Amino acid sequence: MSKEQNSNKMWSGRFREPLNQAFEQWQRSFPFDVRLLAQEVAASKAHAKAIAAAGILSDAELATMLGGLDEVLASSGTDWHATVAAAPEAEDIHHFVEMQLTKAIGTLALKLHTGRSRNEQIATDMRLFVREAIDATAKGLRKWALALVELAEQAGEAVMPSYTHMQRAEPVLVAHWLLAYVAMIERDISRLTDARRRMNFCPLGSGAVAGATLALDRAIAARELGFDGPTPNSMDATSDRDFLLEFTQALATLGVHISRFAEELTIYSTAEFGFLDLSEAFSTGSSAMPQKKNPDFTELLRGKSARLVGAATTLSVLIKGLPLAYNKDLQEGQEPVFDAVDTARGILRILPAFTRSLKFNFERMKVAATTGYLNAMAAATYLSNKGVPFRKAHEIIGNVVRLGLESGRELDAIPLAELRGLSAAFGEDFFASITLEATLDCHDVSGGTARARVRAALVEARERLSPTAGAQL
Ligand code: ARG
Repeated sequence: MSKEQNSNKMWSGRFREPLNQAFEQWQRSFPFDVRLLAQEVAASKAHAKAIAAAGILSDAELATMLGGLDEVLASSGTDWHATVAAAPEAEDIHHFVEMQLTKAIGTLALKLHTGRSRNEQIATDMRLFVREAIDATAKGLRKWALALVELAEQAGEAVMPSYTHMQRAEPVLVAHWLLAYVAMIERDISRLTDARRRMNFCPLGSGAVAGATLALDRAIAARELGFDGPTPNSMDATSDRDFLLEFTQALATLGVHISRFAEELTIYSTAEFGFLDLSEAFSTGSSAMPQKKNPDFTELLRGKSARLVGAATTLSVLIKGLPLAYNKDLQEGQEPVFDAVDTARGILRILPAFTRSLKFNFERMKVAATTGYLNAMAAATYLSNKGVPFRKAHEIIGNVVRLGLESGRELDAIPLAELRGLSAAFGEDFFASITLEATLDCHDVSGGTARARVRAALVEARERLSPTAGAQL
């Protein structure tokens, strides 16, 4: 590269030596920040209005500039690869827009950079990008949660074992299990919404580090871009990437939830459990073993969530120890965010339909929930209701279970006479207290699996997830 070739850069004046060619290619961010074109144009229009208000542009010049910026956006198309290939000299998205604007409206374009720096621009573009991504992710999550609620409603009073330590614990409604994921998703939405509130401030007017060198009314650009106001400190605003950190951390937590769901479904679809039959529409076969139907979708969910966790990790390590204010390192914070957004979007595009396609084997689930003494806790509760101290009741039922194990009988198959041999507190009403229904309904607390509680929880979940209730989450 000759020194003349530096002259189309945004910073060429001070330089006499050409850039090392390999370095020049390597440091360019345009191949990935091309994705910020719409945000860069929106932020540039807002800045144009702010500098016009400060007397830098006449009304006519402002109108030309706004028209030119719209033209840059419209003429660039949506094929990013083609846009990048067509502008090999563009260093980054800021440089690209300035070059295109110059082609569109001539040297007036060069006034746009008055009173601004790329440091505040990239901070603004990324905030706009993340804000949109948060809205899209929250919308996708709401759809997934509603699909789970629908599935839970269809499951009615179907039961399954719950597990602790991966050992059968107590029977629960299938709907109750599905609502556990709805609770996780609602927290994910709330984390995203919360991060959005905190990040919704506009860096424009912060300059390179110390604030704009023009007496800009910063409220103008903030308002134009739908921010709640300008950021409070120029050094922070140009180097702050907390919003990327929070956003990717929220997505990482979502990824953790998604991978738990994926793992449970993968396990439950095995022949060993047989709780569900994964739809062929989301499975593939084995090239070697003709009998197989592999749970590719859930396995890929489990795998893709690693990328979400990875993005959050990259952002933390990137920002850790970075001195104030802007440092070029921050350019490396973009790609993990883009990847996380694409990964979450890809997942959420399919997850609701996949969730609706799930077919449970309720009979198998019921057998698993009604064998193996899952009503032992209800049985102990019966004794404690009769005045036996719970610790003692626990021990007595433990002995009854042992008796059952030795003789191959469930609790309800042991005659009263034998039970009374272990405790005089047993009465005829014992058998009614350990039926499946009683075992469910004794958990009659809010958040419990009693049938009436789950029915109410489903109604409440639907209400919270309705589009008009969005603000509550
Ligand atoms: N591409 C850069 C980034 O992503 C834009 C800001 C560059 N600023 C600078 N002073 N070189 O961070």
